[in-house]
Order: sequence, then C-alpha cells, then structure tokens
Amino acid sequence: VPCQIEFLPSVDDLVEPGIYNNFTGFSLNYISKENVSSSNGIFEPLFGGHQSLQEREETYYARNQTLHCGFVQGPEDYPNTGFDLDENDKIYMASCHVVVSSCIFGSSDYLRRPTKSKIGPYSKKNVCFVMFLDELTLGTLSSEGTGPDETGFIGLWRIVVVEKLPYKDMRRAGKVPKFLAHRLFPFAMYSIWLDSKLRLNADPMLIVEYFLWRNKAEYAISVHYDRTCVSEEVLQNKRLNKYNHTAIDEQFYFYQSDGLVKFNESGREPVLPSYVPEGSFIVRAHTPMSNLFSCLWFNEVNRFTSRDQLSFAYTYLKLRRMNTGKPFHLNMFKDCERRAITKLFHHRANETADPPPANP
Ligand SMILES: *[C@@H]1O[C@H](CO)[C@@H](O)[C@H](O)[C@H]1NC(C)=O
Ligand SMILES: *[C@@H]1O[C@H](CO)[C@@H](O)[C@H](O)[C@H]1NC(C)=O
Ligand SMILES: *[C@@H]1O[C@H](CO)[C@@H](O)[C@H](O)[C@H]1NC(C)=O
Ligand SMILES: *[C@@H]1O[C@H](CO)[C@@H](O)[C@H](O)[C@H]1NC(C)=O
Ligand SMILES: *[C@@H]1O[C@H](CO)[C@@H](O)[C@H](O)[C@H]1NC(C)=O
Repeated sequence: VPCQIEFLPSVDDLVEPGIYNNFTGFSLNYISKENVSSSNGIFEPLFGGHQSLQEREETYYARNQTLHCGFVQGPEDYPNTGFDLDENDKIYMASCHVVVSSCIFGSSDYLRRPTKSKIGPYSKKNVCFVMFLDELTLGTLSSEGTGPDETGFIGLWRIVVVEKLPYKDMRRAGKVPKFLAHRLFPFAMYSIWLDSKLRLNADPMLIVEYFLWRNKAEYAISVHYDRTCVSEEVLQNKRLNKYNHTAIDEQFYFYQSDGLVKFNESGREPVLPSYVPEGSFIVRAHTPMSNLFSCLWFNEVNRFTSRDQLSFAYTYLKLRRMNTGKPFHLNMFKDCERRAITKLFHHRANETADPPPANP
C-alpha cells in the first residue's frame, strides 16, 4: 500500500541547499579509449572496457582517478562499441540540469507518460524528460500509432533513439541509461531514473527536494518490498530462472569471499535498512561520491550478472569500507514511498517480478 508523502505544497519557494559543498569532493575522469593488446593479438573493443581485478580494486577509493565507466571505445578503425546517439540529441542532453529518464529496449514495455496534472509549470519548462528507445521499440510504438510527434516528443517525453545497443541482453543494455545518467547528461546536477514499467506521478523538483535535499542525501533508492538479504535474492533469482544459475553463484561467492555477510537485522551497525534495493526508481545528485558509486555499480553489472539487486549492497559496503571518514549520503527509503509517486504496470512481456500493483 502506498504511504503518504509530505511534499512541499509547491516548487515556488524551493531553494537549493548548500549541503553539497560539504560533501566529499574529488574529481573523476573516465577512460574513453582502450588499447589493450591481448596475448593472442585479438582485441575486441567492449563498451564496458577491459578492467582488470587489480584496476577494479583501485577504483573503489574515493579520490581523483580515471576509471572505466562505460562508453569505452577501442583503437581507431575498430568498430565502435555502441550506444550511439544523434548529435542533436547530445546537444539537447548537454543542456539539461535536472533530468527524468527512462528507457524501453526490445519493445519490452508500453510507453507510460508522466501524469501531466502532477507536473508543475516550472518542471515542465526546466526539467528534461528523456525516454531512450531502440529502433525496434520506436517502430512498434509508431506502428501502434503512439509514436513521437514531429518535434520528437511523446507527451512530456523527448524520445532519444539509441543505435547499436552495446549488449545483446536488453536488460543489460538498459543498465546504461539507468546507472550512467552522469555520463549521458554531463552537466546535469540531478537525475531521476524510472523503469519503464512505472508512470511518474509527482513533480520532479518536489521529488528532488523530498528525497535528496530534505534528507541531506546525494543518492536515494528504495528498499525491496520483500527481501532484505542478498542470499534470499540469489534464491529468488534462481527460482524464477532470472539468470544463468552458475553465473549467479559465481558472483555471490566472489562477493562473500570479499566480505559480504548475511544481512543482520539486529546488527549493531545498521549500515543499511536492507541489502536488497528495489531499483526501479532512483534519485541522484551528481556529486563525486554519487557518480563514483554509479560507475562502480555499473561495472559490477558489466562484469557479473545484469541482476543489479545482487551487487548493490556489496558495492555500497565495499565503497564505505574502503573510504572510512568519507561519507556517502545514501537515503534508502521505504518501498511504499516509491509506490506513492509512481504507478506500476506490467511489462508487455508479462514477466515482472513485482507483485501486482497495490491499486489495480
Ligand atoms: C558543513 O559541515 C560542517 C561540519 O559538519 C557544519 O558545521 C556546517 O554547517 C556545514 N555547512 C553546510 C553549508 O552545510
Ligand atoms: C595504442 O596503440 C598505438 C598503436 O599501436 C600506439 O601508437 C599508442 O601509443 C597506444 N596508446 C596507448 C595509450 O597505449
Ligand atoms: C584532484 O583534482 C582536482 C581537480 O582537478 C584538483 O584541484 C586537486 O588538487 C586534486 N587533488 C589531488 C589530491 O590531487
Ligand atoms: C552460465 O554461466 C557459466 C559461468 O559464467 C558459463 O560457463 C556457462 O557457459 C553459462 N551457461 C549458459 C547456458 O550460458
Ligand atoms: C547479529 O548482530 C547481533 C548484535 O550485533 C549479534 O549478537 C548476532 O550474533 C548477529 N547475528 C549474526 C547471525 O551474525
């Protein structure tokens, strides 16, 4: 059941707080090109790059660094690694300061428009609503008569077509816009991610105020509606055959060998309210720590399974462990709050792992 959220009555008196000046500061650069030559002379450029485990370890330190974070190209005259965007779209995206984004790849969902009556005039004018689609989905929507208008919009959504998805697995491809908003919108300070199964039912600026500013947070994500421990999530993923079981086990064993322990509700250090997030709705300030976390989480999904609930707690706990004294301001909020501001629909393919919506 959704819970009551005490949003501010309007965005008129919103003042951006100075809290972010106080948050951990460092500077991140991203590897844009790789030149690795393998022993057999065959080099396959990969969107996520070729990160060694040693390099991976170093990236967890919150300090000035250059790291893998998607969008890695190979040497000249190699095929590019994908997620290609139109120049005009890139220019538009570079103009965004506050972003709501989502994606549909592989025609897996219908397109859900934000509830217009809930979005105030300020946000309509100043917030970018960007929906990433692949050609297949664009074709499906257009053939159903729900494609973009001549200005490239469907309702509030500006449609951005992605050519050449970097992964065959559509769900993995969907992690690019989900985790890498700070790469796609390089000048944005705030972003809201919304899975395509959700309809946005609240004003984005009020969301930023409620989940970030008011909580002095730089990253907000909800707890899972049911599970708190990664081992339960592992079992559930296998039970529902969500992914190759061996690959799930390999990832889980790797994490356990690097310090991931069972969630302990009565633990003395309640570091997290749950080890399992419901990641369909994420609110971010693009601070260095938040961006680093996004890159690290993306790299886990790139290296291991695409089931991101399996890597969230590990990534968070390791980041904290390796940076004592440098806080990461995470707001892990209640699932009922997520339900209060989004409306859940079933996927087209009808394979959602969510329970039925509370208000059908
Ligand atoms: C920054 O943090 C210090 C110490 O925690 C606090 O005294 C100060 O008020 C904070 N400044 C802002 C702008 O939040
Ligand atoms: C990449 O390879 C080219 C050609 O082999 C070489 O000239 C260049 O120095 C290499 N760059 C890096 C960063 O290793
Ligand atoms: C980190 O990078 C910033 C910006 O490039 C620079 O001002 C700062 O001195 C660097 N810090 C260290 C410890 O190198
Ligand atoms: C499942 O994952 C394992 C380990 O990553 C791999 O060796 C195996 O080929 C995968 N099986 C299938 C059917 O993809
Ligand atoms: C959970 O934490 C409590 C309090 O710190 C401790 O006594 C207990 O042994 C822990 N349980 C497990 C299974 O680690």
